[in-house]
Amino acid sequence: ETSDIQHDAVDKGNYRHFMLKEIFEQPSVVAETLEGRIVDHEVYVETLGENAIKIFEQVEALQIIACGTSYHAALVAKYWVEQYLKVPCLVEIASEYRYRDTAVIPNSLFITISQSGETADTLAALNKAKGESYLASLTVCNSPASSMVRESDFTLLTRAGAEIGVASTKAFTAQLVSLLLLMVSIGKAKGMDKAVEHDIVEALEHLPSEIQKALDQAEEIDKLSQAFAEKHHTLFLGRGQQYPIAMEAALKLKEISYIHAEAYAAGELKHGPLALIDKEMPTVVVAPNDNLLEKLKSNVEEVRSRGGNLFVFADKSANIQDSNGITVFPVDSQYCITAPMVYTIPMQLLSYYVAVIKGTDVDQPRNLAKSVTVE
Ligand code: AGP
Repeated sequence: ETSDIQHDAVDKGNYRHFMLKEIFEQPSVVAETLEGRIVDHEVYVETLGENAIKIFEQVEALQIIACGTSYHAALVAKYWVEQYLKVPCLVEIASEYRYRDTAVIPNSLFITISQSGETADTLAALNKAKGESYLASLTVCNSPASSMVRESDFTLLTRAGAEIGVASTKAFTAQLVSLLLLMVSIGKAKGMDKAVEHDIVEALEHLPSEIQKALDQAEEIDKLSQAFAEKHHTLFLGRGQQYPIAMEAALKLKEISYIHAEAYAAGELKHGPLALIDKEMPTVVVAPNDNLLEKLKSNVEEVRSRGGNLFVFADKSANIQDSNGITVFPVDSQYCITAPMVYTIPMQLLSYYVAVIKGTDVDQPRNLAKSVTVE
């Protein structure tokens, strides 16, 4: 028994939980995921092989399948793909896709995203897709020796390293980075503008240091978490590419703190969830630093004027001020395209610290398994 305890202590380093360690590993994980894939400020498409490039040239649509956190990564990718590649990107959870009659858009690439590479529903969806008319299958996966890697035509490894905490953290950011690289790779095969590629590469190259700055705010997030620990519900709002980040934040909070949390696209508020707002339900806003910001500010006001308590994570330049009912938390993110990865950090830390206050089993939350290999 003693040796087990020592083993644990070594593995977690100075961290109290694997989850916290994994959250703090993210600057180096992102650097590792990028390693050798950006050469001379360009995305090195050849890493995926000649055959992949031939397929990418033909791609006219993407179908992405995943579960849980990996599904949220797919949803972010959809915003990128449709904005930059102008090809349709369909995203669906595996347990739905596998059991319904699906229609394949001609010249579609089938993509699975999975940390474990063993998730039963995602694997079943991949097997189903093999019998359909896709160009090829590609998996964005963190486990080199997994079934998903074996069963797919192409693999893009996320290189996050072993993730022990049931709540996925570093695997998610590595998935986002990989999906951005994949999007540019497909774009290059289809003649993406060099200037666009350079802007994206610049954002990716700065990402480890931006994530580090977000991690440096851990103590402030820890203090903030006290406002959530006694609550029974939390609402997360986002718009655009930050909407899936709000969904991921809600999943994280549910999973490890057992607080009911829901995410809404902020524009949907008035279609129902506004009725829930009162001072007992905190609302967390993941603000974008793009053209949707003004719209989001009016959503914030919708909540505030109904007596809601808001916690707004926003760029300093967003010019949202602390006021009655609004606590603003500054996030330093210079590049719009990688903002989802940067804003993910305070969300992960928030759920972690809330769970610690509540005294849950952070690394092994009740009723959950790290890898869902059965239905
Ligand atoms: C994330 O925190 C979850 N534990 C869970 O949603 C997970 O992302 C999902 O089960 C998918 O797993 P995979 O990436 O290994 O396929």
